[in-house]
Amino acid sequence: MTTITICTTCRRQAARDDRTLPPDGEAFLVRVTEAAAAHPGLQVRGTPCLMGCEHGCNAAVSAAGRMTYVLGRFEGTPEDAAALADYAALHAENDGGLVPFRQWPQGVKGHFVARVPPLDP
Ligand code: FES
Repeated sequence: MTTITICTTCRRQAARDDRTLPPDGEAFLVRVTEAAAAHPGLQVRGTPCLMGCEHGCNAAVSAAGRMTYVLGRFEGTPEDAAALADYAALHAENDGGLVPFRQWPQGVKGHFVARVPPLDP
């Protein structure tokens, strides 16, 4: 089971300085949840602040025994949500969560921030 974690308090670049606007992360969470429903083997959760506030909207893709990937600089659009869900589905299908570059959805290219090896061997 691969989990997509969405930062619910993130703000996209264009709205980051206007605190009269609500964060974009909650809407992104809804869109990613909808997009992920098309892929068995995915779950989606929200959490406040992944500590990448300067490059929101942020998300993490993780699973036991697999590489964790942190992605950011999303606008939170339905297209972003679909690309993230498509990528997470590939993460679930590939050994160790390693998705070959040739399989990356176009919409995740340029959004990778970090990867973290699994704790368990
Ligand atoms: S508010 Fe999203 S990473 Fe901090």
